[in-house]
Amino acid sequence: MYLKNTTTIITGSSRGIGYAILELLKLKKYPFIGSYKESNLNTDGYLPLNIGSNDSILEFVSSCEATLSTTTPIVLINNAGVGLDIQDLTLDISKLKTSLDINLLGTVHLTELLLEKYPNINMIINLTSDFSLFGNTYVSGPAYSISKAGLNFYTVWLSNKYTNIKTIGYIPGWVKTSMGGVEAPIAAEDVAMDLINLIEHSSKVISGKLYKFREGLIRW
Ligand SMILES: NC(=O)c1ccc[n+]([C@@H]2O[C@H](COP(=O)([O-])OP(=O)(O)OC[C@H]3O[C@@H](n4cnc5c(N)ncnc54)[C@H](OP(=O)(O)O)[C@@H]3O)[C@@H](O)[C@H]2O)c1
Repeated sequence: MYLKNTTTIITGSSRGIGYAILELLKLKKYPFIGSYKESNLNTDGYLPLNIGSNDSILEFVSSCEATLSTTTPIVLINNAGVGLDIQDLTLDISKLKTSLDINLLGTVHLTELLLEKYPNINMIINLTSDFSLFGNTYVSGPAYSISKAGLNFYTVWLSNKYTNIKTIGYIPGWVKTSMGGVEAPIAAEDVAMDLINLIEHSSKVISGKLYKFREGLIRW
């Protein structure tokens, strides 16, 4: 995909993987809309978004109008997420609710509103995790896993509904960020390069499928 005339919307770009992707987009001079949770941060090209709040999602979509027209080609990267219980071995209902609100419901709400408003969304990438797969044998992170498994289903549902949009899940691997921790072996910058490369070569990407850092297409 030619990204010079496509706007990439990336949620959760204040730090971690989202930040690295956004920095790479900047370097390549590709248009973007990033998001910060803190509304007092007013940086060019970034809009405030708390994906856990319906009002904030509505405001974000409405603010996008200043940059996007209904004919702008768009790539949406749903990156914002929380891993509240990755180390936990028990299921805490309040962590499950928050994880579902942010990783699933907020992400779905934002995506649906953008799809209603912008008919030229060409690609949607949902950041997901090994934790979300049915073959996963981890006992830790139940709330995180459940929320991302729901997101996986949404990815497949979107690809069935919108056959003109390439919709995929993407697993970045274990990445050195606040969520992944300092021992993680993969740098966020390497993930950013892999992901942008995938988008640039999206003609080869199969919608409804799952891709992983450096491995390409893998089974759900
Ligand atoms: N790191 C890994 O090993 C790993 C592995 C598999 C999948 N992933 C996935 O990759 C994505 C990025 O993870 P990361 O490692 O970069 O995590 P991170 O360093 O913790 O960054 C998370 C990003 O999401 C944003 N965010 C969190 N809650 C939000 C909310 N309510 N509204 C809007 N934005 C919110 C954060 O914004 P603030 O700074 O404003 O809080 C931040 O920009 C996540 O979806 C994660 O599940 C990560």
